[in-house]
Amino acid sequence: MSTEITNNENQTQRELLEKEIASHDYDGIKELNNPAPNWIWLLFLGTIGFALIYLVIYFGYPGNKMSQSDEYEKSVTAYNAQKDALKQADGGSTMNETEMIAMGEKLFKEKGCIACHGVNGEGNNIGPNLTDKFWINGCSQEQVVHIITEGKPEKGMTPFKSMMSQDQIASTATYIRKSLVGSNPTNAKAAQGEACE
Ligand code: HEC
Repeated sequence: MSTEITNNENQTQRELLEKEIASHDYDGIKELNNPAPNWIWLLFLGTIGFALIYLVIYFGYPGNKMSQSDEYEKSVTAYNAQKDALKQADGGSTMNETEMIAMGEKLFKEKGCIACHGVNGEGNNIGPNLTDKFWINGCSQEQVVHIITEGKPEKGMTPFKSMMSQDQIASTATYIRKSLVGSNPTNAKAAQGEACE
């Protein structure tokens, strides 16, 4: 029994000696040649390989369209396409000025503006003349769009934001500014507000 143990100990000693790396001896502390098993090496090299491929793809190998900025471009393009499609469905901003004026003229009658501003925008005892260059609320496209959108209920001007789309309002404002202003209709109401061109 005891000789067996000795034999085993000798065997272990021999194995250790075989593994000693002669040049790696530091103050009597010796290093053994104990390489990691192959599967660990493969795994390690595999992660490096994966990282290299991943980096190239992630940071965008020129023209692979997979970098962050390319992804951003893609979503912006998709969003814009969707927005254009919506606009088109609305019959709005993709129209040119002539088309907007034609649409605005139709809406001016259909939406009841004529009740308070007259058939030709000449004004009546409710609403002001929209054909002269005198404005109570400003004459820019933004200001005219704003007064139609928000109205001025305390003065009797209806807000149209819930009754007309943005593009419809823009078309009507364009019609007023480009077609009604300067049209000199008969029975025009006296000027109100300030001169503005
Ligand atoms: C119920 C009557 C009424 C209706 C309907 C109405 N308006 Fe008016 N609108 C007014 C009154 C009153 C004013 C003057 C408000 C003020 O004193 O600032 C006005 C002001 C305006 C102004 C600003 C004029 C200025 O001198 O600043 C514009 C532009 C205008 N309306 C466009 C429209 C359009 C377009 C429609 C139809 C979509 C419309 N209005 C429908 C009564 C009306």
